Amino acid sequence: MNAFTHRNGVLHAENVSVEELAGRYGTPLYVYSRNHLRAQYRALADAMREVAPLICYSVKANSNAAVMRTFLEEGAGLDIVSGGELFRGLRAGADPGRIVFAGVGKTRDEIVYALREGIRFFTVESEPEAERISRCAAETGTTGRIAFRVNPDVDPRTHKYISTGKKENKFGLDPARAARAYAWAAGLPGIEIAGLHMHIGSQILSAEPFAAALGRVAGLCAELRDRHATFRALDIGGGIGIRYSPDAVPLAPGDFARAVTPTLRALGLDVVLEPGRFLVGNAGILVCRVQYIKENAVKKFVIADAAMNDLIRPSLYEAYHEITAVRARGGTIKGDLVGPVCESGDFLAVERDLPAVAEGDLLAVRSAGAYGFAMSSNYNSRPRAAEVMVEDDRAELVRARETWEDLVRGEV
Ligand SMILES: Cc1ncc(COP(=O)(O)O)c(C=O)c1O
Repeated sequence: MNAFTHRNGVLHAENVSVEELAGRYGTPLYVYSRNHLRAQYRALADAMREVAPLICYSVKANSNAAVMRTFLEEGAGLDIVSGGELFRGLRAGADPGRIVFAGVGKTRDEIVYALREGIRFFTVESEPEAERISRCAAETGTTGRIAFRVNPDVDPRTHKYISTGKKENKFGLDPARAARAYAWAAGLPGIEIAGLHMHIGSQILSAEPFAAALGRVAGLCAELRDRHATFRALDIGGGIGIRYSPDAVPLAPGDFARAVTPTLRALGLDVVLEPGRFLVGNAGILVCRVQYIKENAVKKFVIADAAMNDLIRPSLYEAYHEITAVRARGGTIKGDLVGPVCESGDFLAVERDLPAVAEGDLLAVRSAGAYGFAMSSNYNSRPRAAEVMVEDDRAELVRARETWEDLVRGEV
């Protein structure tokens, strides 16, 4: 599904004019499509139906409660990475028994919070973390269910900042060390061996690395399943890539499913997935208004009111986002789309054929639903953008634009 299409020359989000939304809520503005979110969830659940996975939406991709609730209503669990995400998830109505908690640096307070809430399991990155969970469980009279994160040393062929399953990355334990860690952790007080976890990276466009990674842990999973009655879950993480540029070929859920389901079925474990980008990436756009067109000796700059603080992916990963005119005029301008932030790295598109625009026109940055607002900041004392959810012909504000007062809240 593509929820963002032009009708009579004006970009619409489902059946709502983006021009009207920008007029009503101002810019920069994040706009999400609820029907697109649902369609993505259902496509993945359908492709994987043979192993009926628990799809734990990866909250870090977009932590807006309206987005989370859309998936929770579809039957999702959540993949969280901090106490803050646990708080947001519970507030959005998530069942703690369907929440998995990842991350290399969980603090004592975060662990105690998650134990008290009774989350499904922790994905554990090191032996000291298992020990800390054991101590916290003993103190709180709870049980810490754990799944060690195994680093299968597979190249996911993605940007180096979002590759997480190679041996030089900080994540997980190599399979041999994980085997020893399981044997040792099984004897720790308050610990229950719940499963095994891996997550090899993000924006992965081929099914092959997923199959290879699964192949490297399948033997260990079978041994652990036979040794521990409580070992029931195999969490294969997230990472399914999406289309950012019109000519890119995304990883189809069916291809992903064909690569992983034979091994998953053979193991007979409860399958957990942690998709983020796949579910939300193309369900969101960032709408901005052109402030100036500036030309110097070598190039043209379209200067908009959205910047790297609103969407950092182009600056951080040199990520490509398609830029669309909200009201198409025809023609193009070759140059950079930049924001007002005082950094030469502040750009949304570089050396591109941008839609021809004039001061006051609206542009939409596509594929901004994942790692967009969630990675935004107040750099340059810029209040963060508003977020709107559209469904059919309705639009509702799901997060208000920050104010200047918000910028100083908490300062003493
Ligand atoms: C442990 C874990 N699971 C899931 C995800 C979600 O990845 P993606 O958005 O690529 O699906 C991430 C992303 O960093 C992650 O670290």
